Amino acid sequence: MVSRRDLRRELRRRLQTVAEDPELEADLILTRALAISRAELLADPGEPVDPERVRLVEHLLACRLQGKPLPYVLGEWEFYGYRLKVTPAVLIPRPETETLVEAALEAIPPDVEDLAVDVGTGSGAVAIALAGARPHITVAATDISPAALAVARENISRYELDRRIELYYGDLLLPLRDRLKSERLLAVVANLPYVPTAETAKLAWEPPAALDGGPDGLLVIRRFLDQARDLLPPGVPVFLEVGYGQAGEVSAEVRRRFPDATVTVRPDLAGIPRVVGFLTGHHRQGSPAASLSPDLTS
Ligand SMILES: C[S@@+](CC[C@H](N)C(=O)[O-])C[C@H]1O[C@@H](n2cnc3c(N)ncnc32)[C@H](O)[C@@H]1O
Repeated sequence: MVSRRDLRRELRRRLQTVAEDPELEADLILTRALAISRAELLADPGEPVDPERVRLVEHLLACRLQGKPLPYVLGEWEFYGYRLKVTPAVLIPRPETETLVEAALEAIPPDVEDLAVDVGTGSGAVAIALAGARPHITVAATDISPAALAVARENISRYELDRRIELYYGDLLLPLRDRLKSERLLAVVANLPYVPTAETAKLAWEPPAALDGGPDGLLVIRRFLDQARDLLPPGVPVFLEVGYGQAGEVSAEVRRRFPDATVTVRPDLAGIPRVVGFLTGHHRQGSPAASLSPDLTS
């Protein structure tokens, strides 16, 4: 039988063509397929590997060699300390989105109850991070993808947060319109699609609905801001994740709808302006009929 050491060496060699870090990827595939921790893998390198497990390693490796992103190969990925199920129905949670979580948590005091909102929840990553860090809040999370909501449901159950994270199917804030009027809102966070259509091809493994922000990337964010203007009461902190080079334009879009708002921009760990934040206040009246249209292509 082949040993863990031999398998590891072989995986590292073969992953070199696709992986930036073949050593790390080899270990992640091995620990997943053998259902052991990395510490166990390193502690017992001579241990023989069961042929059924070897076949599973080979299957995962073949998927990776076809170019499938590692999180989809493994079927799970870590975000903010949570191990989340990920399938091709959801965006792979990114480390830069932890900046969005941090920004929102600064606005939500530790012991409060009340409601936070996560728009475009995908795997549930942001909602879970918020609910995990603030044990008395409720999070209402929306998504336009039923398949993504099913994955979010599993992740929420995995962390036993079912009673504090409520999922809604629908367009941006619209499924929550009644709750937004009647409940005290702690914060609204949104990591919406913001990749310009022409750049989505290089992220082909991930769902287009999670990425495609129209010609300049800001189509969905503008529609969200229209809804925020029409549906959110004054005084609600709102945080939007944005792409590289978009923070200035998104800040201007905020000011067009909320002229009195102080807009802040927070960089991610790489120094890229990543989260645009503002407090809803007095705002210009828009045309609700036009701005609340759920037509994503308009
Ligand atoms: C960039 S992903 C973010 C996923 C997750 N929040 C995260 O940070 O990993 C955007 C999510 O927004 C959802 N979405 C796109 N358009 C939407 C809309 N009009 N209303 C609600 N959700 C939408 C997508 O299905 C996708 O799950």
